[in-house]
Amino acid sequence: MNTLPNTPADLTDLINLFDVEKQAAGVMTHMAYEYVASGAADELTVRWNRESLDNLKLNPSFLQDVSKLDTRITLFGDELPYPILIAPTAFHKIMHPEGELATARGAGAASATYVVSSFTTTPLEEIANVATQPLWFQLYVQDDRSLVKDLVQKAESVGCRALCITIDTPVPGVRNRQDRANFRLPNEIQAPYMHGLGDQKKLLTWADIDWLQSFAKIPVLLKGILNPADAEQAIQTGVSGIIVSNHSGRNLDTVPATIDVLPGIADQVNKRVPLLMDGGIRRGTDVLKALAHGANAVLVGKPICFGLACGGADGVSKVMNILRTEFELAMTLTGRTTLTSIDRSVLWRPY
Ligand SMILES: Cc1cc2nc3c(=O)[nH]c(=O)nc-3n(C[C@H](O)[C@H](O)[C@H](O)COP(=O)(O)O)c2cc1C
Repeated sequence: MNTLPNTPADLTDLINLFDVEKQAAGVMTHMAYEYVASGAADELTVRWNRESLDNLKLNPSFLQDVSKLDTRITLFGDELPYPILIAPTAFHKIMHPEGELATARGAGAASATYVVSSFTTTPLEEIANVATQPLWFQLYVQDDRSLVKDLVQKAESVGCRALCITIDTPVPGVRNRQDRANFRLPNEIQAPYMHGLGDQKKLLTWADIDWLQSFAKIPVLLKGILNPADAEQAIQTGVSGIIVSNHSGRNLDTVPATIDVLPGIADQVNKRVPLLMDGGIRRGTDVLKALAHGANAVLVGKPICFGLACGGADGVSKVMNILRTEFELAMTLTGRTTLTSIDRSVLWRPY
């Protein structure tokens, strides 16, 4: 195992996403690993995201013709070859020296849409220059509204296809592990669009969502919805999509697993807008389970950070390709050949 941060790792031994995390732990600095791997407080939500996915059992249907699969999905006018996106995560240069450029190249190699964080450590223009697949932009709304407007317009001008407004972080959570690891950005790394490490309070209300939609030219999604009432209000406010997310358990500990709140939100949304989900997706069967509970697509966060740390762009594409292949196997083995055929009947229920 490598002992120096970011010496190139051998990716051939990485068979699944848990292997990627293990290898990343050996190549990342302690501070960066703790930053990525940790959740808020007692990390109960982190654990529940995984446990709830694990506890869902599958109900396969055999003797179907599974010789051909169609995993394509169209989101906001772009056709994605499979329904897994790269979630926005901050500070990629602490994970790999090439930072977000490597992530964008890896996304390109894996034909994946990449949601760039407001806390990118690389300017948006540079990321857009190397991207060959759609980019979306994740927005943290800061107090200076003219800067917010400029940033949205910059994201639009470099070609970002959608805007994900993160609503679940008026303040960051109780981040004991990060604090213990004394997390801070090294001096040579900057996040050009954000002031501080996100530790100031961010005032964001439904009125601000109206304001953002009054000038945004690209579809607006809200990221961080955890209940049907907020999903309904989001739709009434006119948003184009919803991301069910608990920030990977990094903010408010003891909120439920996203897979547990998803069915109620899916019923409320009732296909009026695209519904995405993230939180604990590590296996192809997890993707299948999220789609069965009503998501149109999922996103992955931590595994991308770990893949990036292990092997830059190659590590990112490896993570996406493992998950995509596992998802295709899960579809084949449950007898579901299209995304629309993945409904709740693919989940096992006691008789
Ligand atoms: C290291 C790290 C940094 C993150 N930074 C952001 C961010 O800047 N903006 C944001 O909206 N979400 C951020 N998130 C949350 C992710 O977008 C996503 O909701 C979550 O990671 C998905 O769960 P998973 O990591 O279990 O796949 C971050 C998550 C991690 C792990």
